[in-house]
Amino acid sequence: MRYTLGIETSCDETACAVLKGKDKILSNVISSSLFRHKPFGGVVPEIASRHCLEAIDYVYQRALKEAGIKPEKINLVAVTRGPGLIGSIFVGVSFAKALSFSMDIPLIGVNHIEAHLEANFIGRRKPSSFIGVIVSGGHTSLVRYRNHRHELLGETVDDAIGEAYDKVAKILGLGYPGGPMIDRLAQKGNAKAFSFTRPRQAGRFDFSFSGIKTAVLNLVEHAPLTPTLSPLRGRGKGEGEFVRDLCASFQEAVMQWVVEKTILACEEEGINNVVVGGGVSANSRLRFLMTQETRIRGMQLFLPPLELTTDNAAMIARLGYTLYRQGVRSDYKMIADPSLKIGEVTNGTFKHRH
Ligand code: KG4
Ligand code: ZN
Repeated sequence: MRYTLGIETSCDETACAVLKGKDKILSNVISSSLFRHKPFGGVVPEIASRHCLEAIDYVYQRALKEAGIKPEKINLVAVTRGPGLIGSIFVGVSFAKALSFSMDIPLIGVNHIEAHLEANFIGRRKPSSFIGVIVSGGHTSLVRYRNHRHELLGETVDDAIGEAYDKVAKILGLGYPGGPMIDRLAQKGNAKAFSFTRPRQAGRFDFSFSGIKTAVLNLVEHAPLTPTLSPLRGRGKGEGEFVRDLCASFQEAVMQWVVEKTILACEEEGINNVVVGGGVSANSRLRFLMTQETRIRGMQLFLPPLELTTDNAAMIARLGYTLYRQGVRSDYKMIADPSLKIGEVTNGTFKHRH
């Protein structure tokens, strides 16, 4: 039985996981530096990479301990090679290379975005083709998977969806990260209270979220000073009706766009499987709408378990294992690639032999 060690350091998380075979997660340890970024209202790359460097060895030891195995049991090292923050990825890639070299085991660098999709297949049969939608703080992408190849169909032309959530939350004084808070408030608001113009992008499968963020800012700036709004202007916090309705309307608009584009991609490509991944796939409204719209059309939907929505190393281990079985290997020339493209690793462009 093969043990794969997964290493993930693409942004503010430092994570290691041990996967047994293709489906059994023995450990999934995550150390987040989120609390260090909170005062800045967003991730500060220098702080993130410094945290990765400080945490990586401890997180690795802990993952082995929780898995109950000795280092020499590991047969394969899988690591995020990109995309993400160069300083953070560099830490994981260097650590993985050192382990691979010292233990004389194969090394595989994987694409973080593809791994978010692969998280869905731990313990569930992977379909031969699917439309993947990745919604996170750094990415919003539509991907087609067919014949073991990932192809990018479209992506955001400006802000990522999670970024839009975080910026809207900042405008509303709700703190960082804003996604979970907006999701919670939206459930108590009226989604029809405000309407937003649909963005027009160059590509049919592309997204744009900066326009709606500006629209929210305008609504807040021009809102009459009602008692429900005043806390917003004062201490920068407020859960009044205005805020709840704005959260609900914003959420409904962006999620409708995401779901519509996903369904359109399925119809155009003649594919009946939808796979969702990334931090924003924890969103309750997205989960509801995706379930509803795929069910109506008789499509199969894959939603990741909540603990695998955010950045983790189990998904990295799983994708590394899958690629290993397909004959993909990386060598020590592999470097951190902050703008690694979808399909570069899986499609063999960078197929190295160990
Ligand atoms: O995938 P992730 O952990 O990190 C990146 O790779 O970017 O995603 C983090 C993003 C943040 O922007 C956060 O606000 C958002 O996911 N998020 C949510 C929810 N939970 C987290 N957005 C909307 N609704 C949620 N429930
Ligand atoms: Zn991610």
